Amino acid sequence: MARVIVTGAAGFIGSQLVDRLIQQGHTVVGIDNFVRGREENLASASTSERFSFVRADLADIEAVTAGLAPVLAAGTFDWVWHFAANSDIPSGVADPSIDLRDTFLTTFNVLKLMRGHAIKAIAFASTSAIYGVKPGRIREDAGPLFPISNYGAMKLASEAIIGAAMESFLDRAVIFRFPNVVGSRGTHGIIFDLLQKLKLRPPSLEVLGDGTQCKPYLHVSELLDALFFIQKTAPERLACYNIGPLDDGATVGFIAAAVLRAAGSTIPLRYTGGDRGWVGDVPRFQYSTDKLGELGWEPRLSSQAAVEKACDEVARENGF
Ligand SMILES: NC(=O)c1ccc[n+]([C@@H]2O[C@H](COP(=O)([O-])OP(=O)(O)OC[C@H]3O[C@@H](n4cnc5c(N)ncnc54)[C@H](O)[C@@H]3O)[C@@H](O)[C@H]2O)c1
Repeated sequence: MARVIVTGAAGFIGSQLVDRLIQQGHTVVGIDNFVRGREENLASASTSERFSFVRADLADIEAVTAGLAPVLAAGTFDWVWHFAANSDIPSGVADPSIDLRDTFLTTFNVLKLMRGHAIKAIAFASTSAIYGVKPGRIREDAGPLFPISNYGAMKLASEAIIGAAMESFLDRAVIFRFPNVVGSRGTHGIIFDLLQKLKLRPPSLEVLGDGTQCKPYLHVSELLDALFFIQKTAPERLACYNIGPLDDGATVGFIAAAVLRAAGSTIPLRYTGGDRGWVGDVPRFQYSTDKLGELGWEPRLSSQAAVEKACDEVARENGF
């Protein structure tokens, strides 16, 4: 059984990763500063004696080093799953220092800490946002890459610095490029945002863009299956995989209708217009998951099925 650090442990995906790692019998130390994470996401993990938690800002290396000192004294770690980042992409477009700090500096500091304590393997939550706007089914080796959000740019820089660390002290790195991930504990993204608007009981539901934006969606439960499959199976020392559904995605119009169904609402939709919802929004993209398919994994749920399942889960969690 491994000793594992999970950053972003109180977040939507990180907390579910923690639960799975504990179920698998590993010893887990979670780190989060609760900028977006929630204490209740760690309720189940906290009942395990193999889980401990450090509340610290990963952008502050001294605070993290001090917070981790007691657990590091008990022995080093086999893996870091680095999932802390800014997940509010529009906020990072408005203020670039947010992604510099929470998306890049967190990675820089995690690597510094790993180097200092001879932790030699990292699993990193990257994103399809690194690809920017590119035509066709984008493969992992596509380039040159020009992301259109600071979030995408700082994730790409994080991938680069992990690659450089392979030359000096890392034995293994697994970079996962996620699509849009949906499901229980979601606290951001289109499903959550539309449900927050519905809570205010508006006469119509405002939807950003013209409804035709179309992206691939994966349910968080299947994402986690893919992460563990890649970590165990990928042959490369520095592995990099797109993860996503087999279809071309679900449109914003489809998602808005699914949210209304899940919330039991019949109010009309009101589109703000334009082909993208906000600055930094990639209106449509498709990427190739052939590499992951060849490795032997594919999801069971389509984008639309993942969205519908997530709408039911998130609507229930938000009191609908
Ligand atoms: N949800 C998606 O659709 C999606 C898509 C692509 C990539 N990702 C990546 O997956 C990872 C998890 O995303 P999520 O959707 O669970 O988001 P999330 O916001 O729920 O989780 C991120 C966690 O990181 C924590 N965090 C942020 N800055 C920190 C800092 N400076 N110090 C300590 N903790 C900090 C937040 O409090 C939060 O709990 C992120 O790296 C994100 O970029 C998510």
